[in-house]
Amino acid sequence: MSNEKSSRAIWSGVIRRYAAHLPVDAATSIVTLHEGNTPLVRAPRLAAAIGGKFDLHLKCEGLNPTGSFKDRGMTLAVTKARERGAKVLVCASTGNTSASAAAYAARAGLRCVVLIPEGKIALGKLAQALMCGAMTLQVRGNFDTALALVRQLGETGEVEIVNSINPVRIEGQKTAAFEICDALGDAPDYHFLPVGNAGNITAYWKGYSEYHAAGECDTLPRMMGFQAAGAAPIVDGAPVAHPETVAAAIRIGNPASWQSANAAIAASSGHIGKVTDAAILEAYKLAAATEGIFVEPASAVALAGVIQCQRAGLIDDGTIVVVTLTGHGLKDPDTAVQHAAVQPVTVEPDLAAVKAAMGI
Ligand code: F0G
Repeated sequence: MSNEKSSRAIWSGVIRRYAAHLPVDAATSIVTLHEGNTPLVRAPRLAAAIGGKFDLHLKCEGLNPTGSFKDRGMTLAVTKARERGAKVLVCASTGNTSASAAAYAARAGLRCVVLIPEGKIALGKLAQALMCGAMTLQVRGNFDTALALVRQLGETGEVEIVNSINPVRIEGQKTAAFEICDALGDAPDYHFLPVGNAGNITAYWKGYSEYHAAGECDTLPRMMGFQAAGAAPIVDGAPVAHPETVAAAIRIGNPASWQSANAAIAASSGHIGKVTDAAILEAYKLAAATEGIFVEPASAVALAGVIQCQRAGLIDDGTIVVVTLTGHGLKDPDTAVQHAAVQPVTVEPDLAAVKAAMGI
């Protein structure tokens, strides 16, 4: 292969692929870990298991470099921050944003400080921030408290905020909608995703709308957002002072992009609903057991939403349904081991014992 051909064949991240739709130009020095280009996997066994007669596709965002969708926005946020001469990146996080910020800051040679709710982020995410050398401040409070502190830090003018209140993050994240349209040849009929701080539903709707306006897709999906019942401010119509859910990534009581989430749902004739922790854990186990796709609990919120809508007869037969699985299951091994249907069986080191345990 010639150099030209081989470089065309190599995926080098969402900014290069979708530069025409992003605030970059040929002079931009890109900070990338080659995020994006994640698999859109058809899931017939899962659809059948929930009694769905629709075409179910899973956008596996856990396959991004740091294991979540955050990398799409972080590549652009860190690229722009470095371009502006920022020296310190800060974010509040339930874990994934901090993992992504820490990684991209390391890649860019910038300092990173993350504010996380003490004791409430999954082990894998904490490990990622620490390994990438981010100063990790465990705040005695929840995500909303940490984000309020980050906003105040931003006002000092000494740091660059890389939460999704930075509009550049939304720009990067919208590329997931582009990829889905490119893979399906058009937008899906329904797009399900979990909603926490509400940046991602905002980003997807922006992506679909822009692709539609550019003539890259003919249709638009209904945006179907789901929150955890213990942290459902948008559904309930009021901030939640003490959000609680097994889906720790979306343990958020006062989402920053609340208004734009509502706007996306209204403009797309979509829906916002809530699911219980029991329903989240059911969906969490079902995805892994039926399709081998292991996600973190927050991602299962979207699947629990599909199950709820299917049972309520809200999804038409023969339609195309896409679910964003936002983060990888390995992020949160504790929840997995605690709730898995199967547990390890200890055996003596001999064939008879192994056969007896297997029942053969
Ligand atoms: N799924 C996962 C795995 C997440 O980490 C998040 C948000 C969401 C869904 C919700 O996305 O906030 O755009 O509505 N995590 C943020 C964080 C809050 O700090 O990692 P959203």
